[in-house]
Amino acid sequence: MQKTRLQKFIAMAGIASRRKAEELIRQGKVEVNNVLVKEPWYPVGEDDCVKVNGKRVFPEKKKVYIMLNKPEKYVSTVRDQFSRKTVLDLVSGVKERIYPVGRLDYNTAGLLLLTNDGEFANKLMHPSNEIEKTYVAEIEGFLDSEKIKKFEEGIIIDNNFKTSPAKLRILKRKARTYIVEIKIHEGKNRQVKKMCEAIGCPVINLKRTAIGNLNIGELPEGQWRHLTREEVQMLMDL
Ligand code: URA
Repeated sequence: MQKTRLQKFIAMAGIASRRKAEELIRQGKVEVNNVLVKEPWYPVGEDDCVKVNGKRVFPEKKKVYIMLNKPEKYVSTVRDQFSRKTVLDLVSGVKERIYPVGRLDYNTAGLLLLTNDGEFANKLMHPSNEIEKTYVAEIEGFLDSEKIKKFEEGIIIDNNFKTSPAKLRILKRKARTYIVEIKIHEGKNRQVKKMCEAIGCPVINLKRTAIGNLNIGELPEGQWRHLTREEVQMLMDL
């Protein structure tokens, strides 16, 4: 193994995404050969002893890529400060230290990817990649073509952030609600809910059905499966 940046080495060890690895380094949680190193670009190789929080880490060889159909009432973090159930409680029998690629809210269901490949996670989460995510939502309120157009033109959320062009399509009209399909290319915190709220149509429930061309398909809620090689490649190519 050639020398590589410390940040990448930690991502390759399956400890965290590249971004998170940078945070850990800057927070002073990483030592190389028993010396504290705070530079993410610091070069390291196989012979260096890299420790994160005092524990040695090795670049992990076997990469694991999983899709989970997350039910509501699970947090999509590895641990929860309030001891709620985490998505990892649903993925049994996987030895590798996997973690979720991005987040779904506690009360959002649907497609969540998990991996130990920091490069893969980094690629999918990086805002510059603008990967399309598809959601199906049940919303209240009244929808008209003006509101649907607002989704395409961009909506102000979080006081001053204008969302990039998104799509909203009505799948079904119910007595007091609509079932809609929403496609966005960003991943701001609670973005779909905030966008729907902004047009006066609060979300009652939300499910992610696809990331790029990867669809949740018939995978039952609470179940997971490994991605195929082709699926991983397809996501890498996005
Ligand atoms: N948008 C939301 O509002 N919540 C999610 O969990 C994902 C996208």
